Amino acid sequence: MTEPDIKKGLAGVVVDTTSISKVNPETNSLLYRGYPVQELAATQSFEAVAYLLWQGELPTPEELAAFRVEERRHRALADNVRAAIDLVPLDAHPMDEVRTAVSLIGASDPGAGGSVLDAGGSPEQNLERSIRLFAALPAIVAYGQRRRRGQELIEPRDDLDYSANFLWMTFGEEADAVVVDAFNRSMILYAEHSFNASTFTARVITSTLSDLYSAVVGAIGALKGPLHGGANEAVLHIFDEIGSADAVEAWLDKALAEKRKIMGFGHRVYKKGDSRVPTMKAALDTLVEHFDKPEVAALYDALESEFVARKGIYPNLDYPSGPAYNLIGFDTLTFTPLFVAARVTGWTAHVIEQAGANALIRPLSEYVGPDERHVAG
Ligand code: CMC
Repeated sequence: MTEPDIKKGLAGVVVDTTSISKVNPETNSLLYRGYPVQELAATQSFEAVAYLLWQGELPTPEELAAFRVEERRHRALADNVRAAIDLVPLDAHPMDEVRTAVSLIGASDPGAGGSVLDAGGSPEQNLERSIRLFAALPAIVAYGQRRRRGQELIEPRDDLDYSANFLWMTFGEEADAVVVDAFNRSMILYAEHSFNASTFTARVITSTLSDLYSAVVGAIGALKGPLHGGANEAVLHIFDEIGSADAVEAWLDKALAEKRKIMGFGHRVYKKGDSRVPTMKAALDTLVEHFDKPEVAALYDALESEFVARKGIYPNLDYPSGPAYNLIGFDTLTFTPLFVAARVTGWTAHVIEQAGANALIRPLSEYVGPDERHVAG
């Protein structure tokens, strides 16, 4: 009998087609619906990129205006979602809080009830649900951070765009344009990345004809892990441990001797560098200048150059985004929920794509347990 060719972690396995994004590690490029992500981050609002991911085309000014109206309609935290968040223990991880809130939004959607046979929803219903989650997540994430700090909920503002309003609801003051721009770029860069672990999870759930909310709840669970979305939080823990640029060499000697993974470095697909890093690093540089924190850039550069020199492993997007979110004022525990708020666009675009050309995702396994045997007696 021939041995099956097992690809651990599905590494290198192409499981389906997609027209949402294209990752090319050879040319170090990432395209959303054909557009280079760097170009989108430099020229577009996150709302326009969300629209692009769902609809396949960038919106016209009229389409964007209509979309913004729709997004603003769903910004406020629903009373029952707020009550559910308040039940989550303050020392639980914020990703558990976000997962719970999204689950309740799903359970409260009047169109999502009834028979499991209708659970999947039509493409129109799924688009509507995607916009609802996209619009609701900033309030969930912002309120989470505020309640952990003992602060009151802040209501959304209709006169601010997505990113400016997100920062308003988190900090209760209007953010400077430089900060809004850096935040907007991070959201665009995090929005989509083909068949990563959380997106694949969402597609697996969708493939059973389950509903979009369940797919997003599952994706949030997959994103929480430090090998995936949890890495942006982990980068800050590492920065805190190291302290300053002059401590990098000694810290790295010890960490590598202990065979620790250095969070924010390495990638399953990009082996020569993550295409999103230069754009996010440029955004981090503007924040370093704005907040006058050269020591952050010094630590960033020292760890990057020392680790790349020793291991030849390059930073991924989480490496610049962690310190950027820290400078903006987000708590370290809020970083991965920010990733959720961005990636919900990509996840839901994939849910709609999977549902539109579905095949149940059900791989095989090679059994390596005991041979057939029987209960004694
Ligand atoms: N620190 C130290 N060694 C590393 C790292 C790292 N960050 N990344 C890879 N390596 C080593 C690894 O130990 C292994 O060495 P050896 O062959 O001697 O055992 C070799 O490089 C190959 O690593 P791998 O883990 O088998 O590669 P992978 O493609 O399965 O892993 C990864 C990719 C992202 C899981 C891994 O690089 C990692 O754990 N990085 C740290 C966590 C992180 O930053 N995750 C965010 C990923 S990007 C954002 C996202 O998609 O969510």
